[in-house]
Amino acid sequence: MREDRYRMGFHLMPPQGWLNDPNGLCRFGGEYHVFFQYAPGWPRCGQKCWGHYISADLVNWRFAGTALRPDRDFDRDGVYSGSALVGREPEGRQNMRIYYTGNVKLDGDHDYVDSGREANVIYTESADGIHFSEKQLLLTHEDYPPDYTCHVRDPKVFFENGSYYMVLGGRKRGGVSRQRKDYGAVLLYRSADGMKWELNREITTPEPFGYMWECPDLFSMAQQTVLSFCPQGLKAELYRFQNTDQSGYVRLDGETVNTANFTEWDMGFEFYAPQTFEDEQGRRLLIGWTGLPDTPYENPTGECGWLHCLTVPRELTRGDGGILQNPAAELQQLREDGQTYTGDSAAMNTGDFSFWLQTERIETDRFQISMGDHLFLKYENKVFTWEFPDGKTEAEDWGRGRRIRRMKLEKLTDIQVLCDHSVLELFVNGGSRAMCGRFYPEVLKDGCTIRIQGCGSRAVTHFWHMKAMEVREDETLIGNRGSTD
Ligand code: FRU
Repeated sequence: MREDRYRMGFHLMPPQGWLNDPNGLCRFGGEYHVFFQYAPGWPRCGQKCWGHYISADLVNWRFAGTALRPDRDFDRDGVYSGSALVGREPEGRQNMRIYYTGNVKLDGDHDYVDSGREANVIYTESADGIHFSEKQLLLTHEDYPPDYTCHVRDPKVFFENGSYYMVLGGRKRGGVSRQRKDYGAVLLYRSADGMKWELNREITTPEPFGYMWECPDLFSMAQQTVLSFCPQGLKAELYRFQNTDQSGYVRLDGETVNTANFTEWDMGFEFYAPQTFEDEQGRRLLIGWTGLPDTPYENPTGECGWLHCLTVPRELTRGDGGILQNPAAELQQLREDGQTYTGDSAAMNTGDFSFWLQTERIETDRFQISMGDHLFLKYENKVFTWEFPDGKTEAEDWGRGRRIRRMKLEKLTDIQVLCDHSVLELFVNGGSRAMCGRFYPEVLKDGCTIRIQGCGSRAVTHFWHMKAMEVREDETLIGNRGSTD
């Protein structure tokens, strides 16, 4: 085992094993519940369960072990992604309703697109957020429209105007010729009681926009309906769709999706499968997976027995040009040792790569933040880039296969950089664009210099060290819930 210097201080990560999508996000009984796709036995066993974190304030967390595991025939190959809906029972008691995909892979000679896979909608509920009722099978493959392949999954459920609604991501069959043109689509179901579901409508595009849409989410924000989804199979372009799979949103006006309005949530190296929820204050928070299904880059933490993390909770608000994302205000409690600089340039030092940097009132058309000689954030010719120079040795190559991500930006007015040991999230122009991804810095004896240049004379830069969140393993819960290995 190598020294584990890449563990994060203020991003949720698996205590051990594998993490992917955030699931079942909700505020329930005065606490936030963050479930996630979790394979605690990884790399030996990759079977997906739901891991569970709980927090009252988004900075003090309890790891509550494995909440749901594949233990029935209808979910035997994985408790896949899904959502939570907090309901009120007639007697006023709250309950947490969980809907997820039970993944089944059949033995035999299958392509697992047209045959061999079952994706069931499963339901379970909890009165305390900890103990779950007997699982119930709500929908099976037979219930989906016949022109869909086996890929239908990731229920996100919400309640509106007296009805329950559920969106499911799908891969619609576009013909079974060799050059099959499968379509990404969303199936919208409706229900009076949250248990018996009927197909309400399909949401898709006239021409395929990716062959599969995963992890859909439908919500309203400032009187607009927003559909978020993760299209797979879009062709990479210089300034768009730079990752293997994408994740973004559109404003939904009618039955079809206008892909010209598709806005990527994040333009960094890895971001996928985000989910949103509303808390008691009426804030809509988004958490994404800082990872992607099939990336060509390396993640050396595998050698320490864990992989991937979640983004910080991002608060969504409506801006002029689209949705703004900003780190949830609670995270500011972790700031310490603040320093302020004014003017065109500043230089700071970090020993542990745990900091929050914020520059406001930028007036420039050429700007740069560098971390040593190994990581550069640049703004030039109306393009913002995150770059890792091609390092010769492992110590020099902080990107481990990541090279450059670009976004077009008419102007740059402000930037926030949240750096947490081996993950970086940045937000520019009031949160109108975001980038997140991993990096693997070498620890330097005298720390690492972070240099900002070209902000303009009126700029103000704040720099804070970030304390780690309190993350406690709840031994009683973990013990009661048992181990999956
Ligand atoms: C997205 C996804 C989901 C699926 C889950 C399985 O990353 O592929 O569609 O439910 O991961 O872990």
